[in-house]
Amino acid sequence: MRLELLHIENFRCIERCDIDVSPGINCIVGDNASGKTSFLEAIYILGRGESFRQARLGQAVRHDSEALTVRTRLTDRQGSRHRIGCHASRSMHRIKLDDQAETRRFDLINVLPLQHIDPNLHRLLEHGPKYRRHFLDWGVFHVEHAFFPAWRRYRRALKQRNRALRARQPKHQVVAWDAELVQQGEIIDACRRQYLEHVKRRLPETTRNLFGNQDITFAYHPGWRGDRSFGNALIDSLEQDLRAGFTQQGPHRADIRISIAAMNARDWVSRGQQKLLTAGLLLAQADILQSTRGIEPVLLLDDMAAELGARYRDALAAEVARLGVQCFVTFLSAELIPETLRPARMFHVEHGHIMPPPA
Ligand SMILES: Nc1ncnc2c1ncn2[C@@H]1O[C@H](COP(=O)(O)OP(=O)(O)OP(=O)(O)O)[C@@H](O)[C@H]1O
Ligand SMILES: [Mg+2]
Repeated sequence: MRLELLHIENFRCIERCDIDVSPGINCIVGDNASGKTSFLEAIYILGRGESFRQARLGQAVRHDSEALTVRTRLTDRQGSRHRIGCHASRSMHRIKLDDQAETRRFDLINVLPLQHIDPNLHRLLEHGPKYRRHFLDWGVFHVEHAFFPAWRRYRRALKQRNRALRARQPKHQVVAWDAELVQQGEIIDACRRQYLEHVKRRLPETTRNLFGNQDITFAYHPGWRGDRSFGNALIDSLEQDLRAGFTQQGPHRADIRISIAAMNARDWVSRGQQKLLTAGLLLAQADILQSTRGIEPVLLLDDMAAELGARYRDALAAEVARLGVQCFVTFLSAELIPETLRPARMFHVEHGHIMPPPA
C-alpha cells in the first residue's frame, strides 16, 4: 500500500499541508517542535483509527480552530485505489474509508497496514508483556486470518467470565464461559505459534544484517503453564480466579522473551542495541507481511537517528531501504540522514509548515 496525496489541516501545529508523497522513502527534516511527529501521527490515525499519543483525537485539533481534517489517497500493489479521511472536532470524530457508510478500525488496519517505529521502541523489551503481545499480534492479525474472529470471540467470553468472577457469581456461571474460551483460545495460540515460525525463519537474516552473527532467540509463553492444555489450566486455576476476581490464565497473558546469546535482551544489551533489535523485529515483520501475503506495509520511523551512532544508523537505514516499502522517516537535521537510506523525497518542516522539495 502506498499513499499518494496527503492533506492535513488544523492538526496540532500543522495549519495546512497538501503534498504529493513519494512511493519510496520520504524524509521529513525539522527542528524540535517543528511538527515532525505530528505529521507521522496524522498518517497513523488514518491507518489505525486512533492516535499513538492521546486517547481522544479531538486533542489533536489545532489550538484556535474548531476541527481537524486528514485525508489521503492510496493505491495497493494490484492497483486498487482507496481514500481515507478523518474529520475530528473536540467532541466527535469520524473516519471514513472510500464510500463506506460505516468504517471499522478493522477495515482501516486492513487497507493501510502501518508499522510505527518510534524513539521509545525499546519499551518493547523493557516493559510488561502487553507491548510484546501487541507487537506479536500485529503480525498475527495480518498473516493468520483465523486470528481476528477468534480473538474477538475470546475477548467477549473473557469479559463475561471476568464479570461473573467480579460479581462473585456461583461457580457454574463462571465456568459456563470456559468452553468458548478454550475453543477460541486454542485458535489464538495456534495462530501465534504459526506466525512465530515465520519470525524465527526471517529474523536471523535481519539481525545478522544489523548486528553481525549474534544468536537471537525467541521463547513463546502461551499465557498458561506450558506443560498442560489451556482447558486444564483453567480448571486448575478456578479457585485462584474466584479469589482474585479475574481470569489469570489464557492467551490474554501471553508473552515472548527475546534473548541474545542466551541472555535476556532486556538485561544485557545497551540502549542502542535494544533500539536496533526492536526496530529489526518490526522490519522483519514488515518483510513477512510482504512475502507471505503480498501486502506492503507503510513504515513510520520517528527520529530514526536518536541514540544511534553512525554504524547502527547505517545498518538500520540499509535494512529499511532493502524492504522497498513506502516510508516516512523523520530527522532533526539533514546531516543525520544515513547514506544507505537514499531518500526519494525530502520535506522540511518549520513551525508546522511542511515544505515540499523545490521543483
Ligand atoms: N493541539 C495542538 N495545537 C497546536 N499545537 C500543538 C497541539 N498539540 C501539540 N502542539 C505543538 O506542536 C508542536 C510540534 O510537536 P511535534 O511533537 O510534532 O514536534 P517534533 O517536530 O516531533 O519535535 P521533536 O523533534 O522535539 O520530537 C509542539 O510545539 C507542540 O506543542
Ligand atoms: Mg517528535
